[in-house]
Amino acid sequence: TASFEMIKTEKKGAKQNVAVVTLNRPKALNALCKQLVVELSQAVEDFSKDDSVGAIIITGSDKAFAAGADIKEMLNKTYSGNFKDGLLVELEKIKKCKKPVVAAVNGYALGGGCELAMLCDIIYAGDKAKFGQPEVTIGTIPGAGGTQRIARSCGKSKAMEICLTGNQFTAQEAEQMGLVSKVIPADQLLDETVKLCEKIASHSPLIISMCKESVNVAFESTLEQGLRFEQRAFYATFATEDRKEGMGAFVEKRSPNFKNN
Ligand code: CAA
Repeated sequence: TASFEMIKTEKKGAKQNVAVVTLNRPKALNALCKQLVVELSQAVEDFSKDDSVGAIIITGSDKAFAAGADIKEMLNKTYSGNFKDGLLVELEKIKKCKKPVVAAVNGYALGGGCELAMLCDIIYAGDKAKFGQPEVTIGTIPGAGGTQRIARSCGKSKAMEICLTGNQFTAQEAEQMGLVSKVIPADQLLDETVKLCEKIASHSPLIISMCKESVNVAFESTLEQGLRFEQRAFYATFATEDRKEGMGAFVEKRSPNFKNN
C-alpha cells in the first residue's frame, strides 16, 4: 500500500468493508495543497479497485473537514500555470469513482473544502460543522464546483447568497437547504456514517454503482434524457446475476447473497 503523509486510510465496519480516508494536515486545517489532493485522489482510486470495499468515507478532523484550497500555495500562481497544471483537477477524479463516496464533515468545510464535500455522493454533517464559499473575500471565486453544485442542489437564490456574501452557514442550515442529508452530534458522526456505508455495502456493489450512475445523470441531463437513461439502466440490471438473486431471495423469503456479478 502507498504511504501517505497528509491523509490516513483505514477500513471500518463489522465486515471491514467501509474505507475511511481522513484528511490529516492539522497545521493548515486540511487546506487542500497539491500533495494532499494527489494523495486523496490516489487513496480513493485504490479503494475503488479493492473488491472488499463497498463504500468510501472522506472525513477530516473535529476542527476542519478542509479550510479550502491552500491560499499560501495559490498566492503566486498565474493563469497560464493554472491552465497547464490544472489546479485542483485531482478532485474531479473523486467524482468519477464508481463506488459511493460519502463526506463526513466536522468543523470547517470552506471553499474547496465545501466543494470537496459537495462532489461526494452524500454529506453527513456534525452539528458543529460550518460550510461556506468564502472565495470572494480573497479576491477569487469558487473553482471546484461551488457555483454550479449549490445552484443545482439548493436553487439560485441560496447559491447566489452563499457565493456572493462568502458568509459561513451552519450544518442545520445546510440540512434545511438540502445540501446535507443528516446532521449528527459531532462525536457520533463517523460511527453513524460508517453505519450508513455498511447499509449501502450490504447491497450488490454492481447494482449500487449502476444506481449511483443513474442518480448522477439527473445533474447532467434533461428530465427526458435522464428518464431514458434510468429506464435502460433498470432494464440492464436484468442482465445481472445479482438481480436474479435479489428477486429470487425475496420470493423464497431468505436474505440475498450478492456476488457482485
Ligand atoms: N490555505 C492555507 N492555509 C490555511 C487555510 C487555507 N485555505 N486555512 C487555514 N490555513 C492555515 C492558517 O494560515 C493558519 O496557519 P499559520 O498558523 O501557519 O498561519 C492555520 O491554518 C490555522 O488557521 P487560523 O489561524 O486562521 O485558524 P482560525 O481558527 O483562526 O480560523 C478559518 C479558521 C476561519 C477556517 C480560517 O483559517 C480561514 O478563514 N481560512 C481560509 C478559508 C478560505 O478562505 N478558504 C477558501 C480558499 S480559496 C478556494 O478554496 C478556491 C476554490 O474554490 C477551489
